[in-house]
Amino acid sequence: MNFHAHETTVIDSPCEIGEGTRIWHFSHIMANCKIGERCNIGQNVVISPDVVLGNNVKIQNNVSVYTGVTCDDDVFLGPSCVFTNVTNPRSGVNRRGQYDKTHVGKGATIGANATIVCGHNIGAYAFIGAGAVVTKDVPAYALVVGNPSKQIGWMSEYGSRLHFNAEGHAVCGESGERYRLVDEGVRKELASAVADAGKTS
Ligand SMILES: CC(C)(COP(=O)(O)OP(=O)(O)OC[C@H]1O[C@@H](n2cnc3c(N)ncnc32)[C@H](O)[C@@H]1OP(=O)(O)O)[C@@H](O)C(=O)NCCC(=O)NCCS
Repeated sequence: MNFHAHETTVIDSPCEIGEGTRIWHFSHIMANCKIGERCNIGQNVVISPDVVLGNNVKIQNNVSVYTGVTCDDDVFLGPSCVFTNVTNPRSGVNRRGQYDKTHVGKGATIGANATIVCGHNIGAYAFIGAGAVVTKDVPAYALVVGNPSKQIGWMSEYGSRLHFNAEGHAVCGESGERYRLVDEGVRKELASAVADAGKTS
């Protein structure tokens, strides 16, 4: 076993947990989960059956990751954020096995206490503000807040607001990485492309 689980963690079999992952007090990992390497799973977290998490996923306290949710590498789930997996639950109706899917793309952040209504995907590096209620797909790099959540801007991979100029260019104030606004959304410019542009200008 190359991961650390606090003695109060409950881990059902079978499941896969990657090297270097740490799981803290009173958390429950249910059967058939696949958890990547170097993840940090906080206190009082439930990972439901069949959930797949990538590498370096950080989950803060009091989060339930329900069946139907998948998180790519480097996803951050803020404290007490909420996933759902049934749109119209009724106590008297059994909808087991009809769970809606929610995919969280690489590097995305879900803020504290946000709710993701199931069946909507969060794009890579999207940022969901604290307390937002997501009811639609969120594009890659988009920053959304509020209930129902609305896009108020764009965020860099580093987690800084991107301010695009009239030509559709922006530079991350923290990392210096460059971004372009194109028809489909935001694209990060590769370091080699930036260097080439510098040579010709
Ligand atoms: C969304 C967020 C990244 C915006 O940060 P920011 O770029 O510094 O934004 P500002 O504080 O300048 O706010 C910009 C506007 O958005 C509003 N706003 C900011 N965060 C908001 C939120 N979560 N929900 C609703 N509105 C929000 C502000 O009130 C402000 O509105 P105004 O222009 O009408 O005055 C930040 O507020 C947030 O929610 N971070 C998540 C924190 C978190 O959950 N961390 C978890 C680990 S501890």
